[in-house]
Amino acid sequence: ALNPAQQAGLESLDVSWSVGSTNTELLRCSAPERGARVLLAERQTGGRGRRGRAWASPLAAHVYLSVLRGFAGGLSRLGGLSLVAGVAVAEALRAHGVANVGLKWPNDIVVDGHKLGGLLVEGGGEFAGPARAVIGLGINVRMPAAFAAEITQPWTDLATLLGDEVSRNDVVAWLLAALLPALDAFEGDGLAPFLPRYAALDSLAGRNVRVDDGGVLHEGQALGLADDGALRVRIDGSERVFHAGEVSVRAQ
Ligand code: BTN
Repeated sequence: ALNPAQQAGLESLDVSWSVGSTNTELLRCSAPERGARVLLAERQTGGRGRRGRAWASPLAAHVYLSVLRGFAGGLSRLGGLSLVAGVAVAEALRAHGVANVGLKWPNDIVVDGHKLGGLLVEGGGEFAGPARAVIGLGINVRMPAAFAAEITQPWTDLATLLGDEVSRNDVVAWLLAALLPALDAFEGDGLAPFLPRYAALDSLAGRNVRVDDGGVLHEGQALGLADDGALRVRIDGSERVFHAGEVSVRAQ
């Protein structure tokens, strides 16, 4: 018989006091036969962000969470996974009172242009055979003053948005209750059902943006997502799509 957590798609949940990176830790494991394996940490000594950047992870301040899951369809069907995870996370936060939460393509969780968190999805496996993915999520809960001074981009945290009593345990429960079913839905039905949900959270659509595509800068107007999750941008009257890249919002 399956216990309630297993029925919800949770195979195991571990909490570490201190790890290098919860993503790195789970990348060392094989995927569970069914469901997802979750690792939380109180701190990370080598937290990783996108594009090789460090993700500062001070003790007991924020949520550092990674989910390891197998995907029978293979790597070819995992495009869009980080968008799906972002939709689930943003919807969960909105449902629990975080007004104006949105997504900034490809992986940022933002509130009014201030970064609240980010996703780092990594994985491996076969193109058409079994694959596994680690979905890493960092959400700012209570930013220590000493760390705040170091951050150069606009940021926010849940203590500011929801009040200082906000509990990291509650936040983790909200996030997992949304994320695990979303991963099941994605494995079954792909990205398509999530695209309208993404559109409702898209903080870039209609805005003037600058896309850094491997060092080449493009400027134009964000138009939402293509069916495969790529970012559509109107540049000098014609539309281009970007499958990866760093996006900044231009002053209008
Ligand atoms: C980003 O915005 O650049 C993505 C940040 C992802 C951070 C999380 S914290 C838990 C997991 N472990 C890591 O080392 N990184 C992710």
